[in-house]
Amino acid sequence: MNMDSTILDGYKKYINKIDEELNTLLNSRIAIIEDIGNHALFGHGKRLRPLFFILSSLLCNYREDNLYLVSTIFEYIHTASLLHDDVLDNAELRRNKPSSNNIWGNHAAVLEGDFLYSKSFSIAVSSGNLRFLKKITDTTIQMAEGQMLELIHMNNWNTTREEYMEIIKAKTAVLMSAACACGAIISGAEYNIEQALAEFGLNMGIAFQLMDDLLDYTSSEEVFGKPVGKDLKEGKITLPLIYCLIKLDETERKRLKTLFKNSSATEEDYRNLIHLTRNNGTIERIMDEACSYVNKAAECLQPFPESPIKDNLLELNNYIVERKH
Ligand code: FPP
Ligand code: MG
Repeated sequence: MNMDSTILDGYKKYINKIDEELNTLLNSRIAIIEDIGNHALFGHGKRLRPLFFILSSLLCNYREDNLYLVSTIFEYIHTASLLHDDVLDNAELRRNKPSSNNIWGNHAAVLEGDFLYSKSFSIAVSSGNLRFLKKITDTTIQMAEGQMLELIHMNNWNTTREEYMEIIKAKTAVLMSAACACGAIISGAEYNIEQALAEFGLNMGIAFQLMDDLLDYTSSEEVFGKPVGKDLKEGKITLPLIYCLIKLDETERKRLKTLFKNSSATEEDYRNLIHLTRNNGTIERIMDEACSYVNKAAECLQPFPESPIKDNLLELNNYIVERKH
């Protein structure tokens, strides 16, 4: 049993209930909506976002019956964004399975994303909590902005670390942050508690995407559940490449930029650049950075008294840098 399954296995009692709700709520009179939904939602998903929402709510002493129902909002939004993302990326594999766009085509995948995204809002409205709704809508606005920023930086080999950080915060970390903050909101907690949990989720979310982009350079398709080296192939300029380029002298940097930007790079050029990134200290630098975001996240939980739920949040926070997929 690997490290990943050991840690998440401890959360099975939560994950099973999340899955039950996801399954119950996924209903439509159009059969293909349920088919694509079942394919996209069930399989290798880690359920981290609903899990963080549930644990944050419990940390704030929320004990209402709708906890699991509300938690699905975060998985529906996440899965909707992945359906759209896979169309944008022309991805063939997701969560160790053929992506939905690969099976049903781009049009159906986009529409399924719209369905799940709308489903999440319908559930959010049923909470009757405006502060909660505002948080969710602000979050999805930022996600769309983040994704658009990523799009306009495609193939921009001059992308800076600051620009990259702005993208990953918006496209990934704000949803993690919202999942945690909403635990405070639904519990009616005070603003400083909401802020502490929002900061916890934001730092953890940044670490999550740093690791995701790192694994794209270091993992294998079998373990990662999606092809590796695809960011470079797609023209997505992520931190491993940014740091690798910084290490090179100006002539080599220019040579590589010209080679890859003119689409004249061969398979061997791709392999060489990935190899270079793996072996010039870049991996260690990003691991250190991800760990420091995980530590920052942990500090945000200091105001909360010690409890088993707080320990769970800290354990899952550490898992972010230990995960292999
Ligand atoms: C995966 O990142 C994608 C995201 C984290 C966010 C996608 C956001 C959108 C498509 C816009 C907002 C959409 C909705 C419905 C709110 P990645 O491409 O780096 O990861 P990957 O390697 O898993 O594809
Ligand atoms: Mg993608």
